[in-house]
Amino acid sequence: MKILIINGSPKGKQSNTLKLARAFADGFSEACSSELEELTVRDLDIRPCLGCFSCWRKTPGKCVLPDDMAGVLEKLVRADLVLWSFGLYYFSVPGKLKLLIDRQLPLALPFMDASSASGSHPSRFDLRGQRHVLISTCGFFTAEGNYQSVTAMFDHFLGKGRYETIFCGQGELFRVPELRERTDAYLAFVKKAGREYAGNGIQEDTRAGLGELLYPREVFEAMADASWGIEKESGQKEDPAYVFTRQMAALYNRASYAGRDRVLQMDYTDIGKCYQVVLKKDGYEVLKENFLTFTTRIVTPLTVWQDIAAGKISGQDAMMRRLYRVEGDFDLMLHWDEVFGAGSSPKEAAKPRRAGEKGPSFLCVLLPWITFWAATAFDRSVGAYLSIGVCAAMGIIFLRYRKTLYDAVSAAAVLGLSAALLADPSLYRFLLPTSYLLFGLLWSVSCLLRVPLTAWYSMKDYNGDKALENPLFLRTNRILTLAWGVLYLLTGLWTFFLMGTPAAPFLTVINNILPVFLGLFTAWFQRWYPAHYAAKAF
Ligand SMILES: Cc1cc2nc3c(=O)[nH]c(=O)nc-3n(C[C@H](O)[C@H](O)[C@H](O)COP(=O)(O)O)c2cc1C
Repeated sequence: MKILIINGSPKGKQSNTLKLARAFADGFSEACSSELEELTVRDLDIRPCLGCFSCWRKTPGKCVLPDDMAGVLEKLVRADLVLWSFGLYYFSVPGKLKLLIDRQLPLALPFMDASSASGSHPSRFDLRGQRHVLISTCGFFTAEGNYQSVTAMFDHFLGKGRYETIFCGQGELFRVPELRERTDAYLAFVKKAGREYAGNGIQEDTRAGLGELLYPREVFEAMADASWGIEKESGQKEDPAYVFTRQMAALYNRASYAGRDRVLQMDYTDIGKCYQVVLKKDGYEVLKENFLTFTTRIVTPLTVWQDIAAGKISGQDAMMRRLYRVEGDFDLMLHWDEVFGAGSSPKEAAKPRRAGEKGPSFLCVLLPWITFWAATAFDRSVGAYLSIGVCAAMGIIFLRYRKTLYDAVSAAAVLGLSAALLADPSLYRFLLPTSYLLFGLLWSVSCLLRVPLTAWYSMKDYNGDKALENPLFLRTNRILTLAWGVLYLLTGLWTFFLMGTPAAPFLTVINNILPVFLGLFTAWFQRWYPAHYAAKAF
């Protein structure tokens, strides 16, 4: 299969739309082995049609103009799939692409074709098997209602219903690195569409994903207006820090309102400017003066924000490297992506999860152990049977919660301990301390891995899977995981030595009370530590 992308954007390789066309071609090639060629119309020598009809009369099938168009026509005729990729220009195709379209006249025969209601010319070549997809982005918030001229033209020269379309509004967002999560999700749908197009055609759910706005209209338009950096009334150039603050504020997600207004103060140290964003129940306000008392203050040079915006460094890495300092309420930072994530919750096209499946739960890793410790304390055999029952039931619980390696290891370990206890109840003296040691080992060893144990279970409170990319979140969890690991390793040791001694009755109390204290410490530490870390800047 030969795929030909005709990139009609005057921006050449910098085209927004080209990203979509490439994603579609990628998806298509995944499903059907293909050879891809890209034509950048901007870089070709394509002159305007002279209207001389020489290609029909004097040199049939050949244009008299000595430019690159002969080569383009050759590629066009040979292609199995043509992807017409262009940004919408004045509700039509960009000028040079129109030149290319006009110059296709040699592909047609001069005679009239009576089969078309409004008149047409038959093709010089048999291109009935050729497929076409129009892929385009436009600058308005929606593609809807903006493509009538385009489809009217292609209906005539390709035939109504003989081509597929992917039209997407808010096209300029595809070049904004900060919004990549949303635009990548869209591109995943385009790729999926390409895959499906190679098979039985684009599916309804994919079409629905492609039809979704990248951002709600008011969010997009506020971002777009701010992006020009020009004041609406005076036409004066705006301070880039103010532009940046407004663009960021435009992404405010009202659903994240935490029951009270928050005032985020942005201090740009390199240019000595300061702005505030007031996050309210029904919207936001950007203040240039008459400042309020801030609830959170971020102190950093504008250049750091610009590097983050350009994708040179992630916000989390910048925080880890202490390139900015945060004062006041740190909760806003912990939920940053949610607070400034308006409209950024697209349905995933790339990685479908089992319907109704929830993220990992602490319940899954703790339940087998707690059952074993609690139940065997009362009755060795009954406790062992109960623990085996719980481990077996974990299979049902895992249908609802995403299983981690720790959940699986926990269930297997408790199963083994319970079986050993059933085989010989007198082993309890060794099995109980061993269970604590294994539990402590599980936590401690996980500290050596990229994602420590507690991170899997607490990420749901910190933006889900994305938290696993946040070094400060991982560092906080590594410390906590280690604390729990050490506690249980020590618990295993003292349980081993104190069992069977007069101090044994105190064991139950100690082994239950200490985790409660560590639990309280954990709840405090996971908020305190990131704030403490971020309050200092180099
Ligand atoms: C001269 C010009 C005319 C445009 N006309 C329209 C238009 O009529 N409707 C629209 O929604 N966007 C319009 N746009 C915006 C582009 O369609 C939008 O920026 C698109 O993403 C560009 O795609 P590209 O990067 O692939 O060229 C226009 C842009 C320019 C430069």
